[in-house]
Amino acid sequence: MSHFQYQNGVLHADSVALPAIAEQFGTPTYVYSKSALLENFSAYSDACRGRDALVCYAMKANSNLAILDLLARAGAGFDIVSGGELLRVIAAGGDPGKTIFSGVGKTVEEMQLALEKGILCFNVESIPELHRLNDVAGSMGKRAPVSLRVNPNVDAKTHPYIATGLKANKFGVAFDDALATYRTAASLPNLDVVGIDCHIGSQLLDDAPLLEALDKLIELIDTLALEGIHVHHLDIGGGLGVNYGAEGDKPPVPVGDYLGRLFARIDAWRAEKYEGKPVKVIFEPGRSIVADTGVLLTKIEYLKPGVEKNFAIVDAAMNDLMRPTLYQAWMGVQPVSPREGAKLTYDVVGPVCESGDWLARERELAVEPGDLLAIMTAGAYGMTMASNYNTRGRAAEVIVDGDRVHVIRQRENPADLFALESMLK
Ligand code: LLP
Repeated sequence: MSHFQYQNGVLHADSVALPAIAEQFGTPTYVYSKSALLENFSAYSDACRGRDALVCYAMKANSNLAILDLLARAGAGFDIVSGGELLRVIAAGGDPGKTIFSGVGKTVEEMQLALEKGILCFNVESIPELHRLNDVAGSMGKRAPVSLRVNPNVDAKTHPYIATGLKANKFGVAFDDALATYRTAASLPNLDVVGIDCHIGSQLLDDAPLLEALDKLIELIDTLALEGIHVHHLDIGGGLGVNYGAEGDKPPVPVGDYLGRLFARIDAWRAEKYEGKPVKVIFEPGRSIVADTGVLLTKIEYLKPGVEKNFAIVDAAMNDLMRPTLYQAWMGVQPVSPREGAKLTYDVVGPVCESGDWLARERELAVEPGDLLAIMTAGAYGMTMASNYNTRGRAAEVIVDGDRVHVIRQRENPADLFALESMLK
């Protein structure tokens, strides 16, 4: 059940009315629900109970320290893609020993930091990266735990910008090159081959491509075993989608169903080939943990009737929420206090000087200037992708815990934005 529901005609986050949040903290503001977050995480942890499994939350989806702290305390590990994200894990009290490092462009400094902090594994994406990691580990007198990100060439059937498992993508080692790449990894003195991983794309509503990718990884693990290369964990990546609520959208497969099918396959394979000896399983979910835990609360500044279109100009913009303009993503828009009266068709747009600055198109709304709107399902890839374009301070972030509201990021002031700049002497 959504944690954002109408009570007495007013949209609430759990038991807090959104207008009270707007009044106290201003707009635009990201509003999250703590109980929604913990419920989403539990869907994964419950399905993993009693197994050697680790849920490494992909923090690129939402990396606020408060969110990371809550997840760390619930038992999450983390999937990171930069040294900055590792420092966030540590700042939030997360465990580097439950952290995996993904990404195609790891720098020497990032590798040093990760080795120093003792991360669980590097998800390596190329042969040059293997050599660099081997050198860095050697120079520190350490051994680096590695997994190879294999590109299984599976069509994730999602938006081209967020499909990552096809041959044409920059990610991972091509399936046909994986064996040779593993041989290289195994031959390097300062690397320990510990795992295999993949990530085929994001916002997948069906688990068939994920299970197809699993089969490819299983095939490869068996081939590697014949060569004497034994991996201890299998990391299937993230990617499970959420329901953004567009008309005709099909609901995503429930987390428990997907994990049930995945574990059933893994168990059958281990029973057949490895006398039932289990393999550790790692997941890297991002969106399915945080997307429906948050909304972007915004206020209508002006209504502007047009010749071809009507515009509702709000105080949030593309710099606050990139997904609509970047992916033509459909995000739900709910009036916080719906009014009676005739609806008009509006494009919901921001104040940024770009025609691409829109949040929603062609929505039927009965609204007046000053009304609040909630952009729904905005907890993932919202704030983390925000920018300061047009010298706009980034939105505040608050989290609702029952009937209490905590500020987890203050609104940025213009002075914060140019604090790091300087003029010529
Ligand atoms: N693991 C790796 C290696 C990834 O690249 C990603 C996401 C994830 C895990 C988490 O995937 P998820 O469970 O969230 O689908 N900004 C885009 C999504 C980009 C996804 C990038 N990689 C959006 O707003 O739709």
